[in-house]
Amino acid sequence: MAADQAADGRLPAVPFHGRYQAGILPPPRPATTVVSFDATADGNGELTDLMRALTARARFLTAGGPPPPTGIQAPPSDSGTLGPTVVADGLTVTVGVGSTLFDDRYGLAARKPGRLTPMRTFPDDALDGTQCDGDVVVQLSAGHADTVLHALRDLTRHTRGAMQINWRMDGYSSPARPAGTVPRNHFGFMDGISNPAVTDAATMNKLVWVDASTSGEPSWAAGGSYFVVRLIRMLTEFWDRVSIAEQEEIIGRRRPSGYPLDANSIDATPNFALDPNGGAIPLTAHLRLANPRTPQTADSRILRRAYNYDRGIDSVGDLDMGLLFTCFQQDVKRQFEATQTRLIGEPMVDYVTPFGGGYFYALPGVADQSDWYGRALLA
Ligand code: HEM
Repeated sequence: MAADQAADGRLPAVPFHGRYQAGILPPPRPATTVVSFDATADGNGELTDLMRALTARARFLTAGGPPPPTGIQAPPSDSGTLGPTVVADGLTVTVGVGSTLFDDRYGLAARKPGRLTPMRTFPDDALDGTQCDGDVVVQLSAGHADTVLHALRDLTRHTRGAMQINWRMDGYSSPARPAGTVPRNHFGFMDGISNPAVTDAATMNKLVWVDASTSGEPSWAAGGSYFVVRLIRMLTEFWDRVSIAEQEEIIGRRRPSGYPLDANSIDATPNFALDPNGGAIPLTAHLRLANPRTPQTADSRILRRAYNYDRGIDSVGDLDMGLLFTCFQQDVKRQFEATQTRLIGEPMVDYVTPFGGGYFYALPGVADQSDWYGRALLA
């Protein structure tokens, strides 16, 4: 990432327009926030105005530039937290909608994506309803936390009255250590090593993008993707008492190097066929259950984008940190739910507590200057 940094340490602008939303495929940025909103717009017309406003602000913020002057009497048009000129800093804005947006408020029931439901509760979950789901979700990712927060303030300012924050989780991706590897999560393991190849369009068409012509999804949904968010507390105090050998067996990779337990390279594909009894990689290891690498499970692969979060301490003084897990997929049941189902009861469950998140539908991209988020849905 260092190579594409501008002279001031900020990331270059990411083109906003396109068939797909620009924030879906890139690897995790240093800073992110996932914000769930309740729509308070009164009727379909106001919801349309909301989406148009969101688009106009996202178009400006992702390009950067001087905010328009408003004269010395009026409140300034920009918060100024990024200085007099808004810097793009690689900002991406990913907008999704939750199943509740398709209730009777906006007349959209017949247009609901076929697999969009509220988030399921899995056996090891301890879900807090106040931190689950929502009508609209916005993920902002950028090179720095100030860029993300500036964008969040701007978007909430321009959409006040039409949507209200429901829950929010800030996250960050640590620098890779050692450099050139993959960022680590709070368990000390590299997270994001194995993922479908985002540069391979055929793979993305099979696993990430919804294609309305073959999937039975509504035609407006083409070019979108199911977006799953899981807020997962990590019980680091317990984890730190576990031997490294056991930690590695729980995950299925070496902690220092990221190598699978049966190989001597980070890029090696674990060979479960040669290890049917789990002598090298236990049958219950996280990576083995998550991706058994069989022909039958190939179409349940997901595009994972994990960020760390840190919220200080809880009410009894324990560290409140964990994983802001996100993933994109073509079919939330065939992919996320199948993967999460295989993980039920895995040894890692003793050290993590999923408590929030949601299922959303990430909208198709904004094609050009005249287009806006959800145009085909609302038109
Ligand atoms: C706090 C919770 C979690 C932690 C600490 C964690 C950690 C890890 C680690 C260290 C790896 C190996 C490195 C890599 O390939 O990225 C991994 C792989 C993976 N995880 Fe997780 N994970 C968590 C939650 C989840 C959840 C909720 C899912 C999906 C339901 C998931 C699905 C996967 C998948 C699909 C892989 C790749 C397996 C492979 O292809 O080898 N993980 N995870």
